[in-house]
Amino acid sequence: MKKFLVLLLSLVMLTTLLAGCGGKKEKPTDSGNTTTDDTAKDNDAKDDTKDDTTKDDPATGSKTVKVGITIYKFDDNFMTLYREELERYFKEELSNDEVTYEVTVVDGKNDQAEQTNQIQTFIADKYDVIIANLVQSSSASTVINMCKDANIPVIFINREPTAEDLDLWDKVAYVGADARQSGTMQGEIIYDLKDHGDLNGDGKVSYVMVIGDPENVDAQYRTEFSVKALTDKGIEVEELVAQRGDWDQAKGQEIVAAALTQYGDAIEVVFCNNDAMALGARQAIESAGRKVGEDIYLVGVDALDEVVACVQSGEITGTVLNDHNGQAHTAAVVAIKAVNGEALDKNYTVDYVKVTK
Ligand code: BGC
Repeated sequence: MKKFLVLLLSLVMLTTLLAGCGGKKEKPTDSGNTTTDDTAKDNDAKDDTKDDTTKDDPATGSKTVKVGITIYKFDDNFMTLYREELERYFKEELSNDEVTYEVTVVDGKNDQAEQTNQIQTFIADKYDVIIANLVQSSSASTVINMCKDANIPVIFINREPTAEDLDLWDKVAYVGADARQSGTMQGEIIYDLKDHGDLNGDGKVSYVMVIGDPENVDAQYRTEFSVKALTDKGIEVEELVAQRGDWDQAKGQEIVAAALTQYGDAIEVVFCNNDAMALGARQAIESAGRKVGEDIYLVGVDALDEVVACVQSGEITGTVLNDHNGQAHTAAVVAIKAVNGEALDKNYTVDYVKVTK
C-alpha cells in the first residue's frame, strides 16, 4: 500500500512539476486505496439488507441510497479535494445496476449552527447515512444523539470526535488519519537535513509554528509532535512564534511575514500545520528575500499538488501526504457498511506519507 502510494506520488510530482511550483491547481489524482476499493465492491455485492428508508425501484429492481455529506466549509483547499473525490467515488465507482448512491454535499460555511440545521434537514428528508466533517468537533455528541433518535448512521471525517463521543452509539465511526504521525514526519524531515535544521550552527533549532484551528486535534498533534520528533532525537529547540492561522493561506502569509520582520535571520525553520498555510509562508519568505534550503526551512502537511511542485523545485523543504483519496474511499466504504447494518469499528485510519525532494 505504502509503496503504491509512493509510486503514485512520484507520478503526481512529475505532472505537477510540469505545471510549475505554485502553478494552476490540477484535478486530484486518484491515489486509490486498493484494499478499500475491493472491500467496497464486496459490500456492494452483499448489499442485500434492505433498509427502511432506501428506495427500491420495482421497475428496474435497483435501489437508491441517499448519502448526505456536510463539509465544515467549502473554502478549504484540502477538504475541496476530499469532497470532490468522495462524491466522485460514490457516483462513478460505487453506483452500479443494483444500487445508486444519490449524494448531496452541503457547505457548513464554518458555522456550527448552520451545519446542525443541515444535518437536521438530512434527517427530516430520511437520508440513509450522513457523513459529517464537523465545524466543531465538540458538537459530535449533539449530532450523534440526533442521528441516533432517527436511526441514521453517522460517519465523521477529518475532525476527530472524542473516544467518549464515538462510544455513544454503535452506528457511529470516525475516518481520518493519525495527526501525530504527520507531526512526527514533519520533524523527521527537518532532522534528516544535514544540519538537522540548525542552519546558523548555534546549537539549537529556532522555529516559527503556524497552527491550524486549535480546536482540531490535527492542529494540536501536528504542533506537538513536529517539535517532539526533534527533541526526542536530542535536538535543542527554541520557539520564536506560535500562532493560529486557521488552516488559511492568507493568515499563514501574515503570520510568517510578521515573524520575519520581528526575528529576521534568527528564524531557521517554519512549521505549518497544513500546506495552505505553507503556501502563504512561502510567499512571505520570498518577499523577505530569504531562500528556502539556503537560509530557512519550511514544511507543511497535505501534499497539495502546488506544494509537491514546490518541494520538487526546492521552494518548500517538505510536506506529508494527507491521503484525501484513501480517506474518501474509506469513508464511503464505511458509510455503506453502516447502511447495510454491518458492525463498525470506531476508528478507521489511513497512513500519512513523507514527501521530500
Ligand atoms: C488538513 C488541513 C485542513 C483541515 C480541515 C486537516 O487534516 O491537513 O489542510 O484545512 O484538515 O479540518
